[in-house]
Amino acid sequence: MSPSEEQAIQRILKQVDALGLFPQAAMKIHQVASDPESSQRDMERAISLEPALSAQILRLANSPFYGLRRNVSNLRQAIFVLGFRAIQGLAMSLAVMHMGKSAHPARRQAWRHALAVGIAARRFSSRVDGIVPGDAFVSGLLHDIGETLLMAVEGDEDLVILHTDHPHADAWLAAERERFGCDHAVLGAACLESWGLPEGLCEAVRLHHDAAAIAEIEHPTARRLAEIVWLADQVDRARLGEIDLDGLHARIEGAPLYVPQAVGWPLVRDTLDALPDELERLAGADLPSPDRKPKRTGPRRRVSRRRTGGRVGWRKTG
Ligand SMILES: [Fe+2]
Ligand SMILES: [Fe+2]
Repeated sequence: MSPSEEQAIQRILKQVDALGLFPQAAMKIHQVASDPESSQRDMERAISLEPALSAQILRLANSPFYGLRRNVSNLRQAIFVLGFRAIQGLAMSLAVMHMGKSAHPARRQAWRHALAVGIAARRFSSRVDGIVPGDAFVSGLLHDIGETLLMAVEGDEDLVILHTDHPHADAWLAAERERFGCDHAVLGAACLESWGLPEGLCEAVRLHHDAAAIAEIEHPTARRLAEIVWLADQVDRARLGEIDLDGLHARIEGAPLYVPQAVGWPLVRDTLDALPDELERLAGADLPSPDRKPKRTGPRRRVSRRRTGGRVGWRKTG
């Protein structure tokens, strides 16, 4: 990393701190999850600081992607099902999405993309030895956290314009570097490092746009986790219509990686087909309101999959 990139990252992270919006609940959950002495009761108390997060956690625990036969009706059961790491990832993602209290559609779109990549990563982890499914989920959930930090600090609209003007990943990463001094991948990894998250997760975030660099990661578990996140990100880009099925197949075949072969094309296709419904179940709640009012209850919003012909998004994702 060049000194100017390092400087840019430190400048942005200082601004993130200065925003002072990282909520108490997320910090508390982070502390509980990082402390091996913590009990389920400690986690329950931390989560209940943020009612909207409790709702999201129950929704996730009851989603078919955990495949439970019986209903998870309270936080204690949900913590047992999800595990501390997944809850930590959810809390951080929600907190970061709300930095700057923006209700901009780009922020919601980013949240859906993050969830989708988490879901896909968790599915793929079942075919890869040595990867804990919860770790894969959290890594997917947090992979574009740098992009959300940039939105919070630099403005949602700026990021949308920058990505719209540069439709391909390489071009928008270069545009981010030119505009902000660093791209969202290195920024996200630096932020997660500063919060004390595991090195393998930070590496997966740093390299999620660079298959060739992922192939060079020495530690086998870290490399496989990064490969899973890369693959999940590619699959969700296909859901968003940024690449077509042939393009997705070509990228997967052309990547110098082991995981795509281990996962296999049928599971990739199955995941791509399953993602819209999974997302609707999980993100149907969307984000809790940025001003932290109690979450509204009521019928779930029907998402416009049919109206958009399967494309949920309207902008490029990172
Ligand atoms: Fe992404
Ligand atoms: Fe990205």
